[in-house]
Amino acid sequence: MDIDGLFGLALEAAKRSYSPYSRFKVGAALLCADGSVFSGTNMENRSFGLTTCAERNALAAAVGAGKRAFAGIVVATPDAEYPVSPCGACRQVLSEFLPPDAPVVFGSSAKDLVVTTIGQLFPYDALHELKKN
Ligand code: THU
Repeated sequence: MDIDGLFGLALEAAKRSYSPYSRFKVGAALLCADGSVFSGTNMENRSFGLTTCAERNALAAAVGAGKRAFAGIVVATPDAEYPVSPCGACRQVLSEFLPPDAPVVFGSSAKDLVVTTIGQLFPYDALHELKKN
């Protein structure tokens, strides 16, 4: 699936956001190496620290379904006036599974997408050096 298709799925996921505290909807569409796609949305909690982001929820759904290899992730933040990048926690968790050159795309609309890689968002992840040995 291409970036536009994945962004469309991320927007659909954002509609399912449970975000009564921030009122900020986020959706993610994670592309697996085998071509399958898993989506996720942010899920907040009245104990604020227990909130989980769209990106990590998409990854948890995929890993829970047995996926281990991923090609990239697209994140939609339709409520924002500018592209909102994955938080630090999500960068770390995505970097556990995505290769450094895997694309990470984020934006509030299909017209303002930022395209980068997980390696750029979370550089010097020693895990990837370990995996080479
Ligand atoms: N959020 C995400 O789901 N992903 C991001 O990349 C940015 C932040 C969520 C967490 C919280 O529910 C809301 O957006 C406001 O921070």
